[in-house]
Amino acid sequence: MNTSPVFLDAKPVSYMIGEQALDHSSKLLVNYPRYVLLVDNNTRNYCLPVFREHLPEFRETDVICIESGEEKKNLDQALFIWKELTRLNVDRDALMINLGGGVLTDIGGFVAATYKRGIAFANVPTTLLGMVDASIGGKTGIDFGKFKNQVGLFVDPVSVVIDPVFLKTLEEKHWQSGFAEVLKYGLIMDRELWQWLYGKDFHEIDFWDKIIVRAARDKIDIVRHDFEEKGVRKNLNFGHTIGHAFESFFLKKETPITHGQAIAAGMICEAYISEKMTDLECSRKEEIVEMIDKNFSRLSVTKEDVPALIDLMRQDKKVREGKLRFSLIKRLGKAVHDKEVSTDLVLESLEYYLHDR
Ligand SMILES: NC(=O)c1ccc[n+]([C@@H]2O[C@H](COP(=O)([O-])OP(=O)(O)OC[C@H]3O[C@@H](n4cnc5c(N)ncnc54)[C@H](O)[C@@H]3O)[C@@H](O)[C@H]2O)c1
Repeated sequence: MNTSPVFLDAKPVSYMIGEQALDHSSKLLVNYPRYVLLVDNNTRNYCLPVFREHLPEFRETDVICIESGEEKKNLDQALFIWKELTRLNVDRDALMINLGGGVLTDIGGFVAATYKRGIAFANVPTTLLGMVDASIGGKTGIDFGKFKNQVGLFVDPVSVVIDPVFLKTLEEKHWQSGFAEVLKYGLIMDRELWQWLYGKDFHEIDFWDKIIVRAARDKIDIVRHDFEEKGVRKNLNFGHTIGHAFESFFLKKETPITHGQAIAAGMICEAYISEKMTDLECSRKEEIVEMIDKNFSRLSVTKEDVPALIDLMRQDKKVREGKLRFSLIKRLGKAVHDKEVSTDLVLESLEYYLHDR
C-alpha cells in the first residue's frame, strides 16, 4: 500500500518524510541558481542513481565524493570538500545537497556552514540513523584528535527529505545501529512507539515507513522547542554519556563499533542508573534491558577496560565542572535531564553491564 509522505513546515526547516518523499520534494530542493551534491563512495553507487531517477533535474549537477566511514569524519576530509567547492566555483547562492548517512550529513553541514561564511544545505539521509536522527536538528561537525564531534556548529539545513527507498541497500549492521535511536525515542518520549516495538527483533519488523515518520517527528518536536540544547533536548542524550565512551574506546582500539551498538550498551547502563536514581521500576528496567539484549550483542569489554571508559566519560561535552550529568528514564516515555551521577554509581552500572547477561 502506498501512502503519501508527510510535509512539515517547521521553520526554518521544511521536511518531507515517508514513502515517495523524493517524488514530492522538488519544491523543497529546487529554487537555487546552483547546486552541488555531496556523496560518499557508497552513496554514489547506491543512492545517487535513485536520487537522480526520482529527481531528474539533478542529473547534471556537480558531485563531490568523499570517503565513507567515521574515521573519515575529520579535518582532512573537510579540507578536501572546501577545496572542491572552490575548484568548482561554487558561490554563496548555491545549495549543497548532502546525500548520505550521519557521517556525511554531519561533515557536509559543517563544511557548507563555513564555506564562504555559509551556504545553504539540504539533507537527504540514506541510513536509518540518518533518517531518524542525524539529519535533523542542526548539529554538524567533525571528530578531532581522539574526540568525537569535537569541532562543529549548530546550524539548520533549509530542508530535509527522508525517503525510506534508500534503505534497500543498507547493510544489516547499519539498520541495527539506527534501531538503537528508534528505541531511545520510545523510552524518552514516546511510549506508544515503544509498545509498537517491544518484543520484536528488528529483522522481523515490516512497518519501517511508519516507524521512520514517527521517530523523525519525535526528534523534530524536541529540536523545535530547544534547538540549542538548553533543556528538553538533553533528554536525547539518554544512553549517550556512557555510549559515547564505548564508541570512543573502540575507535581508539581501531576496532570501531557502530553508533547504535555503543548507544545500546549505554542505554543498558543508564537504565540501571535510572532505576537507582529515579522512579523507574525494576520490572521496567528489565523490560528495557531484555529488549536491547534481543537486538544487540553485549560488547566485549572487561573489568580492566573500566578506568579507560570512565576517563573518556570525563571528556564528554556534557560534563560540567568535572561532574557527570546524565539524562535518565523516569518511566517509559518520560525522561529527566541534568541528573548528577556519582562515579561509584557509573562503575556499578558498568559492572552490571559486564556481569548481568
Ligand atoms: N548530527 C546529529 O544530530 C547526529 C545524531 C546521531 C548520530 N550522528 C552521527 O552520525 C554518524 C553515524 O551515522 P550513520 O550510522 O548513518 O553512519 P554512516 O554515515 O557512516 O553510514 C554507514 C555506512 O553506510 C553507507 N551507506 C549510507 N547509506 C547507504 C545506503 N542507502 N546503502 C548502502 N550503504 C549506505 C555509508 O557509506 C557508510 O559506509 C556518527 O558520526 C554520529 O556521530 C549525528
